[in-house]
Amino acid sequence: MHSFQYHKGVLHCENVSLAQVAKEAGTPVYAYSAATILDHYRRLDAAFAGIDHLICYAVKANSNIAILNLLARENSGFDIVSWGELFRVRKAGGKPEACTFAGVGKSEDEIRLALRQEILSFNVESESELKRIDAIARSLKRRAPVAVRVNPDVDAGTHKYISTGKSENKFGIGFERAMEVYAAAAKMPNIRIRGVQVHIGSQITTAAPFAEAVVKMAPLVSELSRSHGIEFFSIGGGIGIVYENSFASGDSKWWKKNGSITIESYAEAVIPHLKKLGVRILFEPGRLMVGNAGVLLTRVNYVKKTGKKTFVIVDAGMNDLIRPALYQGYHQIVPVKKPARAGTIVADVVGPICESGDFFAQDRAMPEPKEGDLLALMSAGAYGFSMASNYNSRPLPAEVLVKDGGAHLIRERQTSEDLVRGEKIPEE
Ligand code: LLP
Repeated sequence: MHSFQYHKGVLHCENVSLAQVAKEAGTPVYAYSAATILDHYRRLDAAFAGIDHLICYAVKANSNIAILNLLARENSGFDIVSWGELFRVRKAGGKPEACTFAGVGKSEDEIRLALRQEILSFNVESESELKRIDAIARSLKRRAPVAVRVNPDVDAGTHKYISTGKSENKFGIGFERAMEVYAAAAKMPNIRIRGVQVHIGSQITTAAPFAEAVVKMAPLVSELSRSHGIEFFSIGGGIGIVYENSFASGDSKWWKKNGSITIESYAEAVIPHLKKLGVRILFEPGRLMVGNAGVLLTRVNYVKKTGKKTFVIVDAGMNDLIRPALYQGYHQIVPVKKPARAGTIVADVVGPICESGDFFAQDRAMPEPKEGDLLALMSAGAYGFSMASNYNSRPLPAEVLVKDGGAHLIRERQTSEDLVRGEKIPEE
């Protein structure tokens, strides 16, 4: 579901005209709907109402503090992967004690900081890390809360860059070794075993791999609960969203006709296996919360026809949204103002960056745009801004949150001074 629709031929986010947003904030600009984010959070929360659970939003998907604040107000927890994300969560009013800290390469400083801030748990990815956490906790005279991330060797059926639950991926501890690692952890005086975690990948579009992972983990979870008194089982994130038909998927009727994963089908697939475990269930959704809640607005700068192709050259580039270049990600592209009578063309929509990988769509049939027209790249709320860079010395774009009937600038566009902040020419 999402809150983007046309009113009188102009694309709106909730009740706010996106033409107006682009006029005020300039382009490229990300625009997000608070109502969509809250709807996703509340529906996931409601779907698991029968089970003790905590949603830990995966901050990496979109880490703007205004968005974190929306979720903190709902009492969401957070899944963090760096000290920077922990800083953002605190800045946004989130609680460290509801933060799980994931990642294969936590630094000593990060471990120390997170221990001092009393996070809910470290999701431990290796035995070396476990020993490191124990030693740091000892030096601080604390006990470090941990969950071991177990790699269940399940195929998530997603892009190879975002598949994490196979034995060839760098993540977690092998399923077969898990009990041994817990036994070692139990002997470490400054470790407090709190849970167990799995995360098999991202943009998973069917419920079956989630059910498979949970079924595989269930006996281990029961055993850990018996032998080590674990309190929670985190089943990670990874629920996929609709990209190809993002616009149509805003309408609830679309869901009835299409077999895409939904919060409800996900819940139905995993709840029967989770209920009997008797431990708290944690979720780490990122994309599901914010993906369909955001668009990237961009203006057509040139339309260039070569012998072979038509290029629609827009003012956003791969530095603003890297998903098409990096994962062959598909984003639907729609006009902000519906043209009265435009023909359809087949075009490549490309950015201004000096790389052939700088494209948003290739050979895409679309209404013929004119120079100066505004386009919206749909479903850009997750891993859009959060993966943006200054490549080609382009300032990071602005971000706008539509909330309670108004558009709020939640990040200013960078200035030329921002581009060189912290840089220094050595003195002669
Ligand atoms: N938990 C862990 C341990 C993760 O590694 C991730 C994502 C999540 C939760 C959240 O997954 P989600 O619910 O968002 O699928 N940049 C890529 C996606 C990278 C995902 C990394 N890990 C993309 O744009 O498709």
